[in-house]
Amino acid sequence: MKISDIARAAKLFRKKTKADLLPPPAEKRPRHIAFIMDGNGRWAKKRSLPRSAGHAAGTEALREIIRACDEFKIEIMSIYAFSTENWNRPADEVQTLMKLITKYFLSEIDELMEKGVRIRILGDLDAFPDEQRQALITAQERTKDNKGLKLNIALNYGGRMEIIRAARALSEKCVKGEMKPDDISVETFSLETYTKDDKDVDLLIRTSGEKRLSNFLLWQTWYAEIIFSPVYWPDYNRDELIKDLHEYASRDRRFGKVKDK
Ligand code: FPP
Repeated sequence: MKISDIARAAKLFRKKTKADLLPPPAEKRPRHIAFIMDGNGRWAKKRSLPRSAGHAAGTEALREIIRACDEFKIEIMSIYAFSTENWNRPADEVQTLMKLITKYFLSEIDELMEKGVRIRILGDLDAFPDEQRQALITAQERTKDNKGLKLNIALNYGGRMEIIRAARALSEKCVKGEMKPDDISVETFSLETYTKDDKDVDLLIRTSGEKRLSNFLLWQTWYAEIIFSPVYWPDYNRDELIKDLHEYASRDRRFGKVKDK
């Protein structure tokens, strides 16, 4: 079965958005949302579809959520598309994911450009096949000066590796005499992470009911609010996002301080 056929079939099964809900007021919305898009496989299994159909439907959900984040003027959206651990999946599933990711960038790039979306890849692209790597680098390059939604896509990404990479870069600068150990601060460390000068994550949403961080943005989520949505990612839509934004708006973020009276 071709990817396009699977995608067409998967589209038919996806939960539709009613589009009659409203998000909370702008000042109560998070500036940076991170998504762990989990549950594609279980979504497919429940419908007796191949896992690849789950990933195809997951791509549809992603398209809708990018549009919603753009509409709600969210500043940064980070997604976990492929972890360093995902290489251990069966070869045909890895291949399907690669194909979907490349196809997505090739087909969406014009709309993303039009919306002013800036794509940044978080992770090590060296392990990717040439065609995929080139498509990803081109998408990143083409959108780098855009001023709209910042879309961070974690690919072959691991949070611990990101921290080690930053520590190595800072150590090297110290050894070369470009900085002193005392210059290492939250700010200088952050600048060596993939997200560089982005604001830390305000809200992390993991779908499918699993309650773990799974090595995602360990540095950037230090004070993030976390929502574990029970919905499988392919069923996550604009309405679900609005519901979660209201949950976020109702939280009391104190960052370790006591509440202001
Ligand atoms: C987790 O579901 C999902 C992934 C490992 C991949 C996420 C990828 C997409 C949503 C598709 C396309 C991405 C882009 C950037 C176009 P799972 O397979 O672990 O589900 P399960 O836990 O139910 O088995």
